[in-house]
Amino acid sequence: MLFDALLEILSLHLVPAYVGLVAYPEKLQALLPNTWHLESHDKIVLWASVAIALFFAIKLLVNARIGLARIHFAQQTAVNLSTRLLDAYLHAPHEYHLQHNSAELQRNLNSDSVQLADQLLIPLGDLLSQGAIILAVLGVFLFYIPVDVLAVLVGVLAVAGHAVLSQQHRLQQEGKEVQQLRGRLIKNTNEALGCAKEISLLGRQKFFVERFRDLFSRLTRHQRHIQIMAGRLIPGGIELATIVALAGMIYLLFRQGHNSQEVLELITIAAVGLARLKGSLSGFMGAHSLLEHKRAILDAIHADLAELETFTTMTTDHETAPAFRRELALADVHYRYPGSDHDVLRGVNLVIRKGEAIGFVGKTGAGKSTLIDLIMGLVHPTAGKLLLDSRPLHEQLPAWQRQIGHVPQLLSLVDGTIRENVALGLRPEQINEAALLRAVEQSQLTELVERLPDGLDTVIGERGIRLSGGQRQRIAIARALYHDPEIIIFDEATSALDNETEAEVIRAVDSLKGHKTILMIAHRLSSLRQCDNVYNLERGKIINITHDKSHLTPREGRATQ
Ligand SMILES: Nc1ncnc2c1ncn2[C@@H]1O[C@H](COP(=O)(O)OP(=O)(O)O)[C@@H](O)[C@H]1O
Ligand SMILES: [Mg+2]
Repeated sequence: MLFDALLEILSLHLVPAYVGLVAYPEKLQALLPNTWHLESHDKIVLWASVAIALFFAIKLLVNARIGLARIHFAQQTAVNLSTRLLDAYLHAPHEYHLQHNSAELQRNLNSDSVQLADQLLIPLGDLLSQGAIILAVLGVFLFYIPVDVLAVLVGVLAVAGHAVLSQQHRLQQEGKEVQQLRGRLIKNTNEALGCAKEISLLGRQKFFVERFRDLFSRLTRHQRHIQIMAGRLIPGGIELATIVALAGMIYLLFRQGHNSQEVLELITIAAVGLARLKGSLSGFMGAHSLLEHKRAILDAIHADLAELETFTTMTTDHETAPAFRRELALADVHYRYPGSDHDVLRGVNLVIRKGEAIGFVGKTGAGKSTLIDLIMGLVHPTAGKLLLDSRPLHEQLPAWQRQIGHVPQLLSLVDGTIRENVALGLRPEQINEAALLRAVEQSQLTELVERLPDGLDTVIGERGIRLSGGQRQRIAIARALYHDPEIIIFDEATSALDNETEAEVIRAVDSLKGHKTILMIAHRLSSLRQCDNVYNLERGKIINITHDKSHLTPREGRATQ
């Protein structure tokens, strides 16, 4: 950074020296030893020209190298920050994700940290080097130019600088307004097009069209002003100020009795310096306002990381003893979502014995998934207790969670092979082939895999698009079974399937019965026939309906819905 500035100072000295040399070569001749054979004016000018060209070429290279290093550093920082953030998000408790929109997290991960690199760290580097250059230029001015003349120069520039700064501030405000207007314009259009049918029926087109015109003209008015200010008036103003300053200097220098050559040299220094100052000053001011603006992002990301990284350390477990020898008991468990005003679960009592198959039915929104999240230890009860083998569950959480295989309602398959989907998040060399085959067999996938030409290495397409619903579901089951869990949880894993496909999946589940503890949520009571105990969840309360057939509708055996 300081090297930048050093080169800049040198270049400032070089240009007037070069001009002086071309005008008065004999000065140099007297200084150089005769053996250099630089007698003729031509030769001196030639060598001086070559030297100055070379110097600027080197300066270019050095500048590019330093710029590259600076960008690299900034980007590296962004990569590290983003990686740390993703790691932290993936370690965060479930409740954190309940409270944060994934779009927001994605924004933090992608755009914000990249912006941070581009618009915070790079400007920070710029700020320092441009600052150093500005100081260097001022130093050179102070060295060459008489103080009173310099005062004129600085005075004019200060006035101009102040005017430019205040205009730029205004432009920034306007820029924000433009952003806002653009958002409102899009919103208006979306609303209008989204409700096109209703608008047409009600004859309310006028309202939307007028609002569109109004917003659009306000937008263009701001843009007009911004374009004129930023494109013409500000650069023009700077030019004017420079000319006024130089003209003032020339007048003063002549009045002080300097001869033409001295004036020429000083003006050259001033002109070259001013050209450099102009670039550096606008770089400096730009970097400064960006820094102000982006500091908010940095603060937000740091706050996120600080909060999240406490979880990262919390969840690295030390517990190795196996949990779940006999049973998990829920005693008077209540749960209320953060920010909600009512309990979703209200005094649930339940015992899950090892090896049992338990079913849950209930209307949508009854709290079934919430109950499962509590059982999995992803959320914690607001009142009541969960006891694993008579000890608080939260004390044995990692050991408990490692024994759970979860088959979600909305499965998420990755665009890869069956193998990659079953052994999710493992590198090829980490995959245990025996476990993979066992999981495939337990989920009744063997037949399918054998039929496929590429077997387990068949690519199943984005979200498993090349598979049927039942096949996708069984891949999800295989994924849950891969690590040979003691407890398997199906959260409405079959409710989107037709009867026949569901039967396929239920067969896969049946084959697990007796070997594993099974928790199964279903819409249809008929899907829970094999369960040892069936519970109905209604308005946050739970009742055992294993032998109570009144909850079945007469024809199809569906749960009340
Ligand atoms: N993150 C959340 N924040 C607030 N309320 C929620 C949240 N998730 C679910 N709920 C509410 O909790 C209730 C139970 O939801 P859920 O357990 O998903 O029901 P089910 O799985 O039985 O359909 C619903 O009324 C739902 O609106
Ligand atoms: Mg649910």
